[in-house]
Amino acid sequence: MNSWVMNAVFALLFILLTTGLFFFVVTRGALLVRGLSPGLHSEKAHVYPIYSNMRLIKLVDFQPIISAILLFQYHRLVSKIVSGLEQLDLTEKKLLITSCAFGNVIPRVVHAAFRAGAKRVLIADIIQNELLHTSRKLDAYSGRVELIEDNATAMRQEDGIAHANVMFFLLHELPHPLKLKALSEAGRVLAPGGKLFLAEFHRPELWVLRALSWTYFKVFEPLGLALWDTHDPLSCLENIGGWSCERTTYFFGNFQIITATKL
Ligand SMILES: C[S@@+](CC[C@H](N)C(=O)[O-])C[C@H]1O[C@@H](n2cnc3c(N)ncnc32)[C@H](O)[C@@H]1O
Repeated sequence: MNSWVMNAVFALLFILLTTGLFFFVVTRGALLVRGLSPGLHSEKAHVYPIYSNMRLIKLVDFQPIISAILLFQYHRLVSKIVSGLEQLDLTEKKLLITSCAFGNVIPRVVHAAFRAGAKRVLIADIIQNELLHTSRKLDAYSGRVELIEDNATAMRQEDGIAHANVMFFLLHELPHPLKLKALSEAGRVLAPGGKLFLAEFHRPELWVLRALSWTYFKVFEPLGLALWDTHDPLSCLENIGGWSCERTTYFFGNFQIITATKL
């Protein structure tokens, strides 16, 4: 192998390792350090610094990076939610977005809700900086979008206030008991007949992808692996009861969108 190729391989490895190290430090690494510190842990203890520190939020929230993290399936997943929303009649009704997310999912979902006739959109997140950052993507809708600091696992919203609820890759980051609470709350705040659109990771069908995905979760997001079995969101919703659910999987089963109708 000539030296040019060797240098290119080393450069690529270096970039991959540094990127991996960066993401480890601002996600699981930070939580491990936080777990060692004494004292009471707040309801925000599970939230990674990349969602609470404004500099990190601005550094990471770059569409190509976000798409790459979701193996370039981001656009497809968001499009599925958007088309689901556009088929609803949300006239004079509210859409709730339970937690902010990077990339263009929020503006696309907000746009779809207004196209479907929604009167207002409510965006709830436990971190004020995330809400501030998200508000900057929604200048075109000011006055019709409400950004509220709230905890998805114990919401301050009244029963049945929303007719659609979008939860985009939140569950895999929550400790297991909180996953169930977030799903129960998602149902409580929906009006009967309302729809929950839930995007998440799913157990891949291909063993190679399953091995890579397993490694990713073990290193970066160990709370996510339970979505493959003990905390499969579809089974959880069915166990909670009162839902009619449909699941579509993407990219050899690596991702899923669950559309759940509250009965
Ligand atoms: C939706 S998740 C991850 C999304 C995905 N990795 C992305 O950004 O594309 C990240 C968001 O969830 C929020 N969050 C975490 N725990 C929450 C909770 N209990 N209630 C409300 N929001 C929460 C974080 O503050 C952050 O804004």
